[in-house]
Amino acid sequence: MCGIVGYVGDRSGLDIVVAGLRRLEYRGYDSAGVAVVSPGSLLTDKRAGKLANLEKALADSPLATSGTAIGHTRWATHGAPTDRNAHPHTDCTGRVAVIHNGIIENFAALRAELSEHGHVLVSDTDTEVVAHLLEQVMPETGDDLAEALRRVCRRLEGAFTLVAVHAAAADVVVAARRNSPLVVGLGVGENFLASDVSAFLAYTREALEVADGQVVELRRDRVTVTDFDGAPAHPRGYHIDWDAAAAEKDGYDYFMLKEIAEQPKAVADTLIGRIDAQGRLTLDEMRLSVEELRAIDKIIIVAAGTAYHAGLVAKYAIEHWTRIPCEVELASEFRYRDPVLTRDTLVIAISQSGETMDTLMAMRYAREQRSLVLAICNTNGATIPRESDAVLYTHAGPEVAVASTKAFLTQLVACYLVALYLGQVRGSTWSEEIASVIAELADMPDKVDRVLDTMAPVRELARELRECTSVLFLGRHVGYPVALEGALKLKEIAYMHAEGFASGELKHGPIALVEQGLPVFVVVPPRGRGVLHDKVVSNIQEVRARGARTIVLAEAGDESVAPYADVLIPLPPTPTLLQPLVATIPLQVFACEMASQRGFDVDQPRNLAKSVTVE
Ligand code: M6R
Repeated sequence: MCGIVGYVGDRSGLDIVVAGLRRLEYRGYDSAGVAVVSPGSLLTDKRAGKLANLEKALADSPLATSGTAIGHTRWATHGAPTDRNAHPHTDCTGRVAVIHNGIIENFAALRAELSEHGHVLVSDTDTEVVAHLLEQVMPETGDDLAEALRRVCRRLEGAFTLVAVHAAAADVVVAARRNSPLVVGLGVGENFLASDVSAFLAYTREALEVADGQVVELRRDRVTVTDFDGAPAHPRGYHIDWDAAAAEKDGYDYFMLKEIAEQPKAVADTLIGRIDAQGRLTLDEMRLSVEELRAIDKIIIVAAGTAYHAGLVAKYAIEHWTRIPCEVELASEFRYRDPVLTRDTLVIAISQSGETMDTLMAMRYAREQRSLVLAICNTNGATIPRESDAVLYTHAGPEVAVASTKAFLTQLVACYLVALYLGQVRGSTWSEEIASVIAELADMPDKVDRVLDTMAPVRELARELRECTSVLFLGRHVGYPVALEGALKLKEIAYMHAEGFASGELKHGPIALVEQGLPVFVVVPPRGRGVLHDKVVSNIQEVRARGARTIVLAEAGDESVAPYADVLIPLPPTPTLLQPLVATIPLQVFACEMASQRGFDVDQPRNLAKSVTVE
């Protein structure tokens, strides 16, 4: 939540940070602001609403050219999204500017203390206290902004990435992080910092991981990192292999459309390099020993939103192939229920961003209880994989649209791989079965491509149903998480009432919602699973008998469903467990087209942010 960019170098700092904010706008888009330092003075501009408002204001009244700049795009926590509450926040003298991502929990006490000392705070935010605290301590440090920030950080409670500039330090940007993302980009004669690498990918692929509890001083020719007490730190450098063009819309109307279309490649990339010369599954990067994997007696998956739905699918695969009991828990609930965790529990944290605070807190809790934590993550160097015992990276590339699509498919692939690998190591799955599932997975990019090629009727259906007020999604077994995911997509970007149900639960209440003409999507399992398949076909008949308009997703050639389907969406045949890889796509396309038809911002839905870094 909130996007942060900082730059020191010889280019126009303002151009760099505004371009960076454009890439980070998915993290929050309630308001945006910038600050530049030209020798001896600090200039800021900030506007409520999307970045375009700020860009227009800057075009009308440009700020002085400077090579030192910071920028912020906000997802409001404290204070409404107004010009006044937008970042940067300044002190009483207007010489220091601060931007912030996170929540400063003791801000009320600090604010009261500052007011007592005569400071005048003008916004409703928690962030503003930091600008005034810096104003207070700066003279004591001989105008050393990094030292001033360290002193201030020691007084703060809560989670934050803070970035500050000061009129007295023309070529310096400082930043600090605790439980909130921050990466440094290393250039030649210029350096960058940002909430994520997409902000500076166009200029450099070399980055530094900044750890929790560290302060960064960014200058043109050097980057210095210390802890909050000033002890030198030695952050790990890494190379970013994401293609800069991957974060462009590339001719598509929305990032979401582009990311849906990228799914065949994302699935293929996530499968690359997983098989050794003997045809055995190999997950070397997982860094867990065979002994550790054999000792596992319980698996708990923690995740949020779409990643949680991937976890629900994973449960079926893990229990089927490994016979290890597996629970799936919303990360935000996990640590509050006193879960039973031992050294032999494997906790799998699934997160596209690797920064979701709920998931981070859940995995930290599990590690405190001495359980092993495996992260499934799409973002190299993010906090969750860094703090985990092991990691399996998905290779979806940057996902910019708030609605997660390609990350979901790759999370499913990673979960299948983990389940099969555990089955292989523990001997609970026959090698022939593993080989056959791997072969099926290898066919998936083609199958996903085939589904994408047949989406015209789904888009047409969305246009037809544009005015409807409610949609239900039903599924059983792995079709149930697919139903939940279809409903989440529709709520999230088309702002429609949508519910996903386990179709067997219908008769226990939800069927009362069904009325004449209500669109009901039903995910039908492949015919190979006889009873499961037949039960779902009965469920279709039950809702249809009560007037529902049935939209049925079923294996191509499954004639048994045709009589009960008002609309039939054929899916390529797959084994039951893998069906979510193809069944989810029409639901993504439907939601995307629906949001667009209803005139909503597909990529930046209201009230949301891509990366939820507060609890
Ligand atoms: O980055 P994460 O995978 O941890 O994010 C988890 C959820 O916030 C995310 O999947 C969210 O539900 C999506 N916007 C749904 O499309």
